[in-house]
Amino acid sequence: MRLLVTGATGFIGRTLVLRALRDERVAEVIAPVRSEDKLRAQLQREGAGSAPKLTIVEAEAPHWDFRHVGPVDRVVHCAGVLFGRSRDEYFRVNVDGTLRLLASLSGHPDAVVLSSQSAGGPTPEGHHAKKLDHPDRPISWYGESKLHMERAVREAGHGRVRFLRAPMVLGPGDQATLPLFRMVRGKLWTKPGRELKHFSWISSGDLADAIDVWFERGGALDVAHVTSPGTITDADLMLTAGKVSGRRGKLVSIPQILLKPVAFASKFIPAIGKSVPSLTADRAREIWPNRWVIDPDPFHEATGWRGRATLEDTLARTLAWFQCEGLV
Ligand SMILES: NC(=O)c1ccc[n+]([C@@H]2O[C@H](COP(=O)([O-])OP(=O)(O)OC[C@H]3O[C@@H](n4cnc5c(N)ncnc54)[C@H](OP(=O)(O)O)[C@@H]3O)[C@@H](O)[C@H]2O)c1
Repeated sequence: MRLLVTGATGFIGRTLVLRALRDERVAEVIAPVRSEDKLRAQLQREGAGSAPKLTIVEAEAPHWDFRHVGPVDRVVHCAGVLFGRSRDEYFRVNVDGTLRLLASLSGHPDAVVLSSQSAGGPTPEGHHAKKLDHPDRPISWYGESKLHMERAVREAGHGRVRFLRAPMVLGPGDQATLPLFRMVRGKLWTKPGRELKHFSWISSGDLADAIDVWFERGGALDVAHVTSPGTITDADLMLTAGKVSGRRGKLVSIPQILLKPVAFASKFIPAIGKSVPSLTADRAREIWPNRWVIDPDPFHEATGWRGRATLEDTLARTLAWFQCEGLV
């Protein structure tokens, strides 16, 4: 099988490429990336430096053209903008990039495209979980771009394409959790708002399994929520990160209103955006709602698959990865 994975230098793409390189069913892994050197250095550090079945193509979205790559059997599209500085940046890469990618592939591949629960928005008031048949109400440019991308791809009729609306993904290689592990080394652990925030989540390992299962026995489902077991809170995240780090601290709630000026400043003061990339003014809108829980049952019913990872094991492996990389 010839598999094309975009975003191989990112958190999720990295997980999928490392797996595919070990997967005997995969004869060739094609990885379009912006920098071949970055991917090679990363694979070297991961102990996967010699990878004879890996083909690296240098290309940047949305200016993608993969006609020269030849027919591919499967595509997992992970490249995307998560913390952009403008609405246009999200749409150019997440919408136009995806359309260009799918239009330029030959061989009628099966494709799984990483969308996000942000495309649907937070859990509607009065419900335990957001279901796929609830109306989609994204509240960020990021979420809007993902929803628009799903609709534009369907409209363009690019063959067999499935959209995975992932919740928060956790696991080794996830740079977004680095500030969490750094924070729990101190004594005061700050969380936004007094009320607990409830989230669905998925480990990167469960996500990779779900994608594989979807290709193998996905049935007619073309959009899905996938999760690891259970719902977590922002406090669970901090306490578990503290536990696996062997640290103790005091949870302190900071009024959400204080985050707003910082989030807006991050747009204009690059140092803030660099140290807290997830606090762009756009993504900060997603901090305010208290419930981001999704319903994974339709995926379970269609495929028989359920996630298995635990939060503690996932964060322990994430911390081990940061320690190996010398980041904490
Ligand atoms: N992480 C999560 O919690 C989460 C949750 C739900 C959905 N998702 C979705 O899952 C996908 C992967 O997320 P991730 O966490 O792996 O993100 P990530 O670590 O930020 O990686 C993003 C990847 O996209 C690439 N990329 C960005 N702009 C590009 C462009 N213009 N041209 C080519 N490549 C570009 C990056 O390449 P460079 O290395 O060159 O920058 C990187 O490889 C995204 O579509 C995201 O929306 C993620």
